[in-house]
Amino acid sequence: MRDSRELASLEKLGFETFRDGNQVLILGDSLEILPRIETEFDASVTDPPYNISGYDNKKEIGWLKSNFYWQSEKKFTKIDEDWDKFSNGDYLEFTAKWLNSVCRLVRPNGNIMIFGTYHNIYKIGYTLEKLDRKIVNSIVWYKRNAFPNITQRMLCESTEYVIWAVNNNQKDAKNWTFNYDLLKEMNNGKQMRNVWDIPLTPPSEKKVGKHPSQKPMEVIERLVCGFTNEGDIILDPFAGSGTISIVCRKHNRLSLGIESNKAYFNLAKRRLEELDKTKYQLNLM
Ligand SMILES: C[S@@+](CC[C@H](N)C(=O)[O-])C[C@H]1O[C@@H](n2cnc3c(N)ncnc32)[C@H](O)[C@@H]1O
Repeated sequence: MRDSRELASLEKLGFETFRDGNQVLILGDSLEILPRIETEFDASVTDPPYNISGYDNKKEIGWLKSNFYWQSEKKFTKIDEDWDKFSNGDYLEFTAKWLNSVCRLVRPNGNIMIFGTYHNIYKIGYTLEKLDRKIVNSIVWYKRNAFPNITQRMLCESTEYVIWAVNNNQKDAKNWTFNYDLLKEMNNGKQMRNVWDIPLTPPSEKKVGKHPSQKPMEVIERLVCGFTNEGDIILDPFAGSGTISIVCRKHNRLSLGIESNKAYFNLAKRRLEELDKTKYQLNLM
């Protein structure tokens, strides 16, 4: 069990910080903040920008050619956020920078779980291989209720991926955390496979506010409970609406979430506060 006093140094880095018990959120750019941190983390679970939006609207063409019906009648929108716009070379450089920092901060043989889609997952895998990190598995999250493909020019993309890497080189990686029995229990007594059939984030998890790529608690619970232990400190450099912090709180892990967008930082804060209220109401604390 890590000592919650270890989190105190994170509050002194000079950035706007929110602390709720064992959960710390920092507002700011991970590329700037990570190199200043000295705390050792047991694992990192994170969901970086996917580079779906593209740069200079280069990825706008498919959207414009798409069926007008989906835009006007169905009100479908695509991810079009400034934090998700990179050119391909910039994205590789960005990935190398934050992953280098994560590898410095996570303890040897600690787990590193990274979300991605086909837009970025190969670049993340390539960067991990260049860093000579051990890749144990990849997990395929199947979203059975994924949005239809409005361009009608390709298959309907219904999956996201999680790369499970261990913070050591291929040869020496050992003793990584894998809670086999717990995952089996979470999978109704059957051995957990690497394809997870879990629907998109339900509206009940978006009552406090919305984030365009908020992950379902069920997916994050499998990652946090299956690949870390109670009392571990977990790092999420791209916190968004704070789903990883929320799950860490529910399952007795310590966490640091970093988020550069003030509105999403505030949303993550509100979600943690809301969780506290619910716990007080249910008399669980
Ligand atoms: C894919 S979303 C994470 C969503 C999160 N898993 C959730 O469930 O809400 C990525 C987040 O990273 C943030 N972000 C992008 N670049 C960042 C950076 N350099 N430092 C910190 N946060 C960043 C974005 O604002 C966005 O909220």
